[in-house]
Amino acid sequence: MKILVTGGAGFIGSNFVRHVLAAHPEDSVVNLDKLTYAGNPENLRDVEQDARYRFVKGDICDGTLVRELMAGVDAVVHMAAETHVDKSNLGADEFLRTNVTGTFTLLEAARETRITRFLAVGTDEVYGSLSRGAARELDPLNPSNPYSASKAAADLLARAYWTTHRLPVVITRSSNNFGPYQYPEKVIPLFITNAIEDRPLPLYGDGRNVRDWLYVLDNCAAIDLVLRRGKDGEIYNIGGDNEVENVVLTRQILRLLGKPESLITPVADRPGHDRRYALDSAKIRGLGFRPAHAFPAALAATVDWYRHHEAWWQPIKSGAFKAYYDRQYAPR
Ligand code: NAD
Ligand code: TYD
Repeated sequence: MKILVTGGAGFIGSNFVRHVLAAHPEDSVVNLDKLTYAGNPENLRDVEQDARYRFVKGDICDGTLVRELMAGVDAVVHMAAETHVDKSNLGADEFLRTNVTGTFTLLEAARETRITRFLAVGTDEVYGSLSRGAARELDPLNPSNPYSASKAAADLLARAYWTTHRLPVVITRSSNNFGPYQYPEKVIPLFITNAIEDRPLPLYGDGRNVRDWLYVLDNCAAIDLVLRRGKDGEIYNIGGDNEVENVVLTRQILRLLGKPESLITPVADRPGHDRRYALDSAKIRGLGFRPAHAFPAALAATVDWYRHHEAWWQPIKSGAFKAYYDRQYAPR
């Protein structure tokens, strides 16, 4: 299969490209990525020389470019997005442009070029905060912040292209991912790298918000399964069945690094902070998916990865990013 991956230089995208090249020797991948602050060519340095891999720097909103790239492929795996909730709360323009207009541009091009599979990567955040139970695929969407609202819009557009145009769309909605190559604005890599440097860990609000953690390689395997075996027009939740309160997660990270809990620094809560996400993953289990990585071992492996890859994250954290976060999070 020839696959166009969008956003392949980001966290999940780079893990997914590596997964496809390793698991499917007959496949080739074109990676279209704009290289925003979150995209990093270093993430795929090890596959750059693979003849089955090609990188194209470009914007998913560029209709001419995406039509040209789609003309040569069988399937699209669309992951490019603006992804950070706090950033979307500060200004949503880029979120609407990339996540909504960019998705629309890709869907139109896929329709014109008669793509045989269009997989849109989505998030559990579209269901909004759940006080109890777990979201099922056809539950109403109830996003709370500009990021999740833009992702919900993208999902609905993709579904509409199936319903109206019979574009063979499938959608995945996964819970929070963690693992290697995650940009250190998200809580796990931010807290690991801060702790390594003996810097404060800014824990929002009362620290009791709950996320369901999924190891990135499990998400990549699930996306790959849906790509090949999912049914046209269907949505598949991908959860880790692993709900953890932020404060518990924070203590686990500190324990793994042998750092003191005094680094935990309560800060003002995120506006509109969703209390809890949870997914019912029965449907993708029906396709045969089971997460292969247990959370404690995967978290320990992730901590080790950041420990041994300072050369990857130090340049990111020492630049404008650091100044941005120093401004953003004053201790309460
Ligand atoms: P990321 O922020 O690490 O990477 C996003 C990538 O998209 C970057 O490489 C960036 O350069 C690229 N990009 C951004 N705008 C672009 C544009 N206009 N044109 C081309 N490329 C562009 O994100 P991630 O965490 O890897 O998330 C990937 C996808 O998975 C996103 O769609 C996200 O909504 C979804 N998702 C992420 C999580 C998670 O926990 N990380 C959970 C569920 C769903
Ligand atoms: P994040 O990694 O931003 O993912 P999302 O908001 O998409 O779930 O945040 C995960 C949780 O960690 C969320 O409840 C907010 C919290 N958090 C903090 O307490 N401090 C931080 O500095 C960050 C970035 C997040």
